[in-house]
Amino acid sequence: MTIKSKNITWHDGQVTRDEREHLLGQRGATIWFTGLSGSGKSTVAVAAEHALHERGRLTYVLDGDNVRMGLNKNLGFSPEDRTENIRRIGEVAKLFTDAGAIVFTSFISPYRADRDQVREIMADGDFIEVHVHADLAICEERDPKGLYKKARAGEIPEFTGISAPYEEPEKPELVLDTGKYSVEESVAQLTAFLEKKGYLTA
Ligand code: ADX
Repeated sequence: MTIKSKNITWHDGQVTRDEREHLLGQRGATIWFTGLSGSGKSTVAVAAEHALHERGRLTYVLDGDNVRMGLNKNLGFSPEDRTENIRRIGEVAKLFTDAGAIVFTSFISPYRADRDQVREIMADGDFIEVHVHADLAICEERDPKGLYKKARAGEIPEFTGISAPYEEPEKPELVLDTGKYSVEESVAQLTAFLEKKGYLTA
């Protein structure tokens, strides 16, 4: 990436992240969902957000389709555009995390290097990679948006899992198997993990 900004200086604020987190009574974190289209990322993300909100946590969901309607509306699905999509979301998630929020990101994020790059820019422990897994056959059968059908018919080029790659995480913090477990069970597994690792202690 070409860095175009010159003559810029970091300006510190007067309120620290610790102070914001103290105010909120929680620790900020980014829960990074990755998986095929139709694997259940957005479904689990919104359900998990709701579950934590009910428990008094400040949460926020950043969702692929939604973000592509605004911030990233100038990006498509070429490898370069997907990389830029994930880079921008990584930076946004980092800002939300610094603000003290528990952020759920729901993007296919098919390239390992792009996800690793986001992990790289975040502080240790702030980035929790969650592989939302269901076999391609299951995702294709669900086909909630009818996109697999179109992709098979050759109407959508570079479709993840069909004509574009998906690189599975090698060491995700957590795997949620949505082919096997219900949405409620997946949310319970995720919240149990966050509790065990101390993310939900005030
Ligand atoms: S990513 O690969 O750059 O991470 P992102 O999560 O933002 O993708 O967007 C994926 C969503 O865009 C899918 O859930 C689907 O609704 C839609 N989509 C449209 N075209 C494609 C495509 N070629 N490949 C994958 N998803 C697509």
